[in-house]
Amino acid sequence: MKQKQKTGKIGRNQLCPCGSNKKYKNCCMRRPGSPPEPIESVYLRKYNIRLKTPDEIAKIRKAGELVMATFREVEALLAPGITTEAVNTLVHEFTLKHRAKPAPLNYRGFPKSVCVSVNEVICHGIPGDRVLVDGDIVNVDITSILDGYYADANQTYYIGTPGPEARKIVEVARNSLKEGLGMVKPGHTVGDIGWAIQTYAESQGCSVVREFVGHGVGLAFHEAPQVPHFGRRHTGTPLVPGMVFTIEPMINLGGHALRILPDKWTAVTADGSLSAQFEQTVLVTEAGYESMTPYNL
Ligand code: MF3
Ligand code: CO
Ligand code: CO
Repeated sequence: MKQKQKTGKIGRNQLCPCGSNKKYKNCCMRRPGSPPEPIESVYLRKYNIRLKTPDEIAKIRKAGELVMATFREVEALLAPGITTEAVNTLVHEFTLKHRAKPAPLNYRGFPKSVCVSVNEVICHGIPGDRVLVDGDIVNVDITSILDGYYADANQTYYIGTPGPEARKIVEVARNSLKEGLGMVKPGHTVGDIGWAIQTYAESQGCSVVREFVGHGVGLAFHEAPQVPHFGRRHTGTPLVPGMVFTIEPMINLGGHALRILPDKWTAVTADGSLSAQFEQTVLVTEAGYESMTPYNL
């Protein structure tokens, strides 16, 4: 007997090939004569990504301006002899004074208003009585909520005079963000960003942290998509105008493995090597991208 021919056609009740796990008829199947689905609806349905409207973008940009104004205050304070708690106090008070809220405070139980990560601390350092000393590197990660909208950025600073290892890891981390940003334009994919960062960082003998990734941001602290800082070219979600996400590569001088301290937050390199990070919130535009938290790299 002749077997029923497999045609390339997808049955309406079969799983949708887009990977949504929904039936084709309830997902990507188009009915004859029906208008094309708007891109905002496609991205929400397929990827859970909320493309931002011009009004939302304007609000996120304002939140980003406040984040960058906060960095200028932090930069004036950072010096040998100050505590990480002093950075927290400044960020907390400056944010409230501008009628905004520090997103980290009480986020999933995080006890402070900013993450301050020194030397071998990769991220999520909790401010406290640690005193910054000459030669330290310190990452300050600021996320503000202004008028309900979020912007998220971080930078790593030298305290006093850096040694050769400090210089190396901070410059590789800085260039890693540059490499990632250089991939942001419509037609490229989320995977292209991670690929560019990993290729560069590993070419410098450094390693890329796997456990923490960039993320959609703007209407909430952490939205879809995830943006890994490693991966393969031409993979992952295609970038389209209106996407807003962070790129925030964490780069280690030694291996990529990490350990979480008993405080449940502080991530440190497993081998004790230095780690550095830079983060910006970016909007995908027709031409490429616009940073919502711009600073020179
Ligand atoms: N700002 C971090 C990020 O870039 C997240 C910090 S979560 C906190 O995504 F709870 F530690 F604040
Ligand atoms: Co972030
Ligand atoms: Co951040």
